Amino acid sequence: MTKHIDIVIVGAGIIGLSAAYAILETIDNLDYTIHIIAEYGPHDRSNPDLIKYKRYTSPWAGAHFRPFPSLTDQDYYESKLTRLTYEKFKLLSLIKDSSIKLVKGIEFFERDDIDVKNKGYYEDIDQFKVLDERDFPKHLSKEDNSLIKINSGTSYLTWVLNAPHYLQYLYKILDKNDKVRFIQRKLSCLNEVNEIIDNYPIIINSSGKGLQYFTGTSSSNYDDQSYPIRGQTLLIDPPQTSTTDYYLNRTITHQSKDGLWTFIIPRPLNGGIILGGTKQIKDEDESVKQSDTQQLISRGKELFPQLMKVNVTTGEKYFDIKRINVGFRPARIGGFNNSIEYKDVKNKKLNHVLNNYGAGGMGYELSYGAGVVISDNLKKLIEFDNLNSHL
Ligand SMILES: Cc1cc2nc3c(=O)[nH]c(=O)nc-3n(C[C@H](O)[C@H](O)[C@H](O)COP(=O)(O)OP(=O)(O)OC[C@H]3O[C@@H](n4cnc5c(N)ncnc54)[C@H](O)[C@@H]3O)c2cc1C
Ligand SMILES: *[C@@H]1O[C@H](CO)[C@@H](O)[C@H](O)[C@H]1NC(C)=O
Ligand SMILES: *[C@@H]1O[C@H](CO)[C@@H](O)[C@H](O)[C@H]1NC(C)=O
Ligand SMILES: *[C@@H]1O[C@H](CO)[C@@H](O)[C@H](O)[C@H]1NC(C)=O
Ligand SMILES: *[C@@H]1O[C@H](CO)[C@@H](O)[C@H](O)[C@H]1NC(C)=O
Repeated sequence: MTKHIDIVIVGAGIIGLSAAYAILETIDNLDYTIHIIAEYGPHDRSNPDLIKYKRYTSPWAGAHFRPFPSLTDQDYYESKLTRLTYEKFKLLSLIKDSSIKLVKGIEFFERDDIDVKNKGYYEDIDQFKVLDERDFPKHLSKEDNSLIKINSGTSYLTWVLNAPHYLQYLYKILDKNDKVRFIQRKLSCLNEVNEIIDNYPIIINSSGKGLQYFTGTSSSNYDDQSYPIRGQTLLIDPPQTSTTDYYLNRTITHQSKDGLWTFIIPRPLNGGIILGGTKQIKDEDESVKQSDTQQLISRGKELFPQLMKVNVTTGEKYFDIKRINVGFRPARIGGFNNSIEYKDVKNKKLNHVLNNYGAGGMGYELSYGAGVVISDNLKKLIEFDNLNSHL
């Protein structure tokens, strides 16, 4: 006889929702309930467009997939998770309501020494190509004081998605499944789950920053290896011209030598175009910074002048900014953590924990792949428990 298994996912961001989605898809021979406990998320019907909460990162993402050369084993491991997602998203792109769209990814670099032979970069990516000068934009100024300089580039098949829409898409699938329950609540620590669900359920720690098991005496209840990377982007409405179609079909990223980023990400299902973006390490400022907006406009003007509208009164060109997004990527020294923490459930009355946090700027890229790992780890944990119960 198999017993009923309670699984608690703490967090309803892209990482927690994708874990639930992957578990439902891959574990069907067991009797279980997934309880998703989160303060913020698509289950909060008072705010279905999700955009009120700055500390809930997922709705603020671009979002696109941009592979990059692996510098460490952890980078390479994470690149493998992005490839699992890539294959899954090719299938989901056939479903319009997912909002996922396959497009051409184009990257330009001021540097000329990008490691295009790095496995973490090109491996398992379709249509990967190194660009040459003929492929660089023709309209760029060659002046010394220009902000955008290009010396190398790559292109490949990638995906873009409409972040708030994809969260709703996953939510709809989960919410209609009898095995899933959403609970809106803020926890002070993971151990508090036991006040809500009996019998020490397995906990999946998808809290973005890594909520601690016990309430600490320190000022933070989160993993001290975690830190935020602030991002500010502009959501723009492009002009209705024939050249705009070109930009709705690709995501273009430029990196300058001094670490500045300029990118566009079209948001499918008429979501406009994201013009980004900043990466400010440990900056916790939730307000819109005028200086960020100005530098995004200045670089955007050089790289994407075709996406500017013309003021009929003055003849001036401008980006039609519909909203300014500010979000905080949950980064972590050592990278994404999805370790298994075995605890002695019988004697000490503790929960087994599957970590699943610290995705930084890669939450969507990792999402499905991380969910598959959680599902595999869950199977291991259930076997481990069964073995121990016979001792
Ligand atoms: C400007 C910007 C652009 C980005 N672009 C991209 C991109 O192009 N591609 C990409 O892949 N990623 C991108 N990202 C990164 C991506 O948004 C994040 O990696 C992702 O959203 C992290 O998801 P998460 O589920 O881990 O965290 P979150 O979305 O922050 O969710 C955390 C969840 O945990 C819950 N929680 C936390 N603590 C508690 C508690 N104490 N009690 C109860 N619930 C709790 C929260 O309420 C929430 O439900 C971007 C981010 C920004 C800011
Ligand atoms: C770009 O759009 C055209 C027309 O919608 C489509 O045929 C083509 O496949 C698209 N290209 C990519 C890379 O998605
Ligand atoms: C995630 O949860 C586990 C629970 O045991 C906790 O130990 C860990 O600290 C949390 N993540 C971190 C490192 O903050
Ligand atoms: C066009 O310019 C005029 C004069 O500066 C200004 O008042 C108006 O708001 C501008 N229109 C748009 C759509 O920006
Ligand atoms: C994840 O957290 C556990 C427990 O805190 C730690 O032992 C492990 O090294 C971490 N993994 C990574 C990739 O940082």
